[in-house]
Amino acid sequence: MAVDLLLGLQWGDEGKGKIVDVLTKNYNIIARFQGGPNAGHTLVFNGKKHVLHTIPSGIFHDDATNLVGNGVVIDPVIFKGELDKLEEQDIDYRKSLLISRKAHIILPTHRLLDAASEAAKGKAKIGSTLKGIGPTYMDKTGRNGIRVGDLELSDWKERYRTLADKHESMIAFYNVDINYDLSKLEEEFFEAVDILKSLTFIDSEEYVYQAQKSGKTILAEGAQGSLLDIDFGTYPFVTSSNTTAAGACTGLGVAPNQIGEVFGIFKAYTTRVGSGPFPTELFDEDGETMGRVGHEFGATTGRRRRCGWLDLVALKYACQVNGVTQLNMMKGDVLSGFKTLKVCTAYKYKGDVIEHLPYNIEPENVEPVYTEMKGWEDDLTTMTDASQFPKELNNYINFLEKELQIPITIVSVGPDRKQTIFRK
Ligand code: GDP
Ligand code: IMO
Ligand code: MG
Repeated sequence: MAVDLLLGLQWGDEGKGKIVDVLTKNYNIIARFQGGPNAGHTLVFNGKKHVLHTIPSGIFHDDATNLVGNGVVIDPVIFKGELDKLEEQDIDYRKSLLISRKAHIILPTHRLLDAASEAAKGKAKIGSTLKGIGPTYMDKTGRNGIRVGDLELSDWKERYRTLADKHESMIAFYNVDINYDLSKLEEEFFEAVDILKSLTFIDSEEYVYQAQKSGKTILAEGAQGSLLDIDFGTYPFVTSSNTTAAGACTGLGVAPNQIGEVFGIFKAYTTRVGSGPFPTELFDEDGETMGRVGHEFGATTGRRRRCGWLDLVALKYACQVNGVTQLNMMKGDVLSGFKTLKVCTAYKYKGDVIEHLPYNIEPENVEPVYTEMKGWEDDLTTMTDASQFPKELNNYINFLEKELQIPITIVSVGPDRKQTIFRK
């Protein structure tokens, strides 16, 4: 069986966790393939909200297996916190959660390095979640990292010490004011590593291969969004992994010709948290309304998300690099009550009008060209079928489908599992 993918098409927080949870009933295995605890995936059902950072969003379904793939970076301390929360909900994760031996471990000193690097950058900071993501992937590509499988080796603590000592000298080199008590951080780290070691570690690429061969259905869950991709995002204001479809191949060991459906998920408007360019960002009452009605605060850091109109230039680009086959439009309910909606369909760029994402989208070079549409008044949150949609919402959806040439198969009208409408 081919592996299906679900990916964010914007700057993250599109609602990936919600839709993976909704789709899990159609799959045997849900697999995260990149990122780490910088992600915050929110699920809402039975009146309760759950936020997952490293654990795949299929974990609340009894009959699904959840795999943390080799492309993921794991902070044992945060992972333990997630497991504790699952235990409170009586979720029996021991039989349904598998971890790739090739996933890399985030050390306490990776987090400190992240903080030191950001402090040293000053105003040019990335706006990292400070979870140690960048430094951990740097050690991965620099061939210094510690992997989950290493925890099974007798000398892993010596390797840990060598790497942590090196990190400490790097932190000192930054010459910034970072206060820390490493022995305290190590105490909770080693305790969490012991919990991690009690879980099932596997050779995940072999597991995925055999699962495919035996006809099991697999959904790969992305983290972050395409515009945060290390290659295709708004570099350097990006994360340190490939968040796009190719990342699922390297992050799980799936061959490119084994990819099936690619679900591309986007908000009906745009948000971004952290630094970096955002051409359609709003600094007025409309942006404030989106943030307030959409509760646009980060699920991991609590930071306020910047808000703006939908950017079709960027969205088309994301559909292109991912080979999106179906679109899922989230948070349309947040746009109810706007008299006029704007959608960016081109950029004025250095005197020209262009419809593709150029190398640089810094504000001094880019001015969005907008198409205006009439908004809708109706509250969408209680709707259960697309036949109830107001005509202005249908116009909005039809316009996007025409521009993107990809069907919008799911429209989400609220955070709850139930507030999900499938279109023909
Ligand atoms: P993820 O990182 O892509 O999983 O998304 P986040 O969980 O970080 O952010 C999405 C936020 O929007 C969460 O608070 C969700 O509960 C919420 N959400 C998801 N879909 C909808 C929707 O259709 N309408 C509204 N109002 N909220 C939604
Ligand atoms: P989910 O999976 C939104 C952003 C950070 C920062 C940049 C780099 O919930 O969609 P990092 O910690 O990776 O070094 O931060 O990327 N970022 C996210 N923004 N959603 C996320 O994940 C994000 N993960 C990282 O805000 O700008
Ligand atoms: Mg999120």
